[in-house]
Amino acid sequence: MQVITTIQALKQYIRVLKERRSTIGLVPTMGALHEGHLSLVRQAKKENDAVVVSIFVNPLQFGKNEDFARYPRTFDNDCNILSQEGVNIVFNPGAAEMYPDGFCTAVIPESLEDKLCGKSRPGHFRGVAVVVLKLFNLIQPDVAYFGQKDFQQTAVIRRIVSDLNAGVTIKVLPTIRDQNGLALSSRNAYLSETERNDALCLYQALIRVQSLVKTGIVNTEEMIREMEKIISQSKSATIDYISVVNPETLESVQKAQSGDVVVLAVRIGKTRLIDNVILTIYEQPILSDT
Ligand code: PAJ
Repeated sequence: MQVITTIQALKQYIRVLKERRSTIGLVPTMGALHEGHLSLVRQAKKENDAVVVSIFVNPLQFGKNEDFARYPRTFDNDCNILSQEGVNIVFNPGAAEMYPDGFCTAVIPESLEDKLCGKSRPGHFRGVAVVVLKLFNLIQPDVAYFGQKDFQQTAVIRRIVSDLNAGVTIKVLPTIRDQNGLALSSRNAYLSETERNDALCLYQALIRVQSLVKTGIVNTEEMIREMEKIISQSKSATIDYISVVNPETLESVQKAQSGDVVVLAVRIGKTRLIDNVILTIYEQPILSDT
């Protein structure tokens, strides 16, 4: 496995892979790897000749008062894991390599960036958009892999790829959870033991809404009220938003349809967690008297 820190060296390796006509799978990450990341790496490994994993804590996607400085960094351990997974290249640039003096270009996912997480994290999705597009330009992957856990991020990336003809296939893989249902996240490391327990309310709310939908309830106000009830039972939880949205526009809907997504962000103490489920709505059988 090659660990590469400069754009120049990366380009050379990519040129060789392209000359060999190797297909390239890319998994962009910010490191502090867990089984969620590894599910993407393993899928990439299955489907491509070569796998590139980027590890870059991207300053552009963190707000001023966010956790950039204390974001968990476990680079050596990450590299050990990735080398065991058979990854070919780890790209780990410094901030100055990605954003040298004078860098001023923005990629603005206009109608998607101010909704949901964008409201409490202004500028976040521009930061994601620009770094992901840079990675696509540098690595020219055939397929790039993302997790459903960050649903809005996947909607933004799909939009950018389509709007700017990035020529990369985007694959979104299911959320990996711990045995209690908590979605794995590098930020779970911030939770105390009690908070980790309180954090289960996100998944419990999502499970509840799925069973409501099975009984025929599609009124999203009612769905949201039920979720609020469950989450308010956890002492350290403060709801940032709960919404049922169209998967492409991220506009909230009044009556849920199959494919719509229940998305939520909840603060557990000081840690902001997100989760979601994609709804499957079965047609109710029409009962007849005969
Ligand atoms: P990061 O939070 O490190 O996540 C990297 C990838 O792993 C993302 O696609 C994310 O959705 C996925 N992932 C995280 N937790 C997951 C889980 N429990 N199950 C499945 N997949 C999971 O997301 C980012 O980094 C950054 O915004 C990035 C795209 C790298 C741009 O900087």
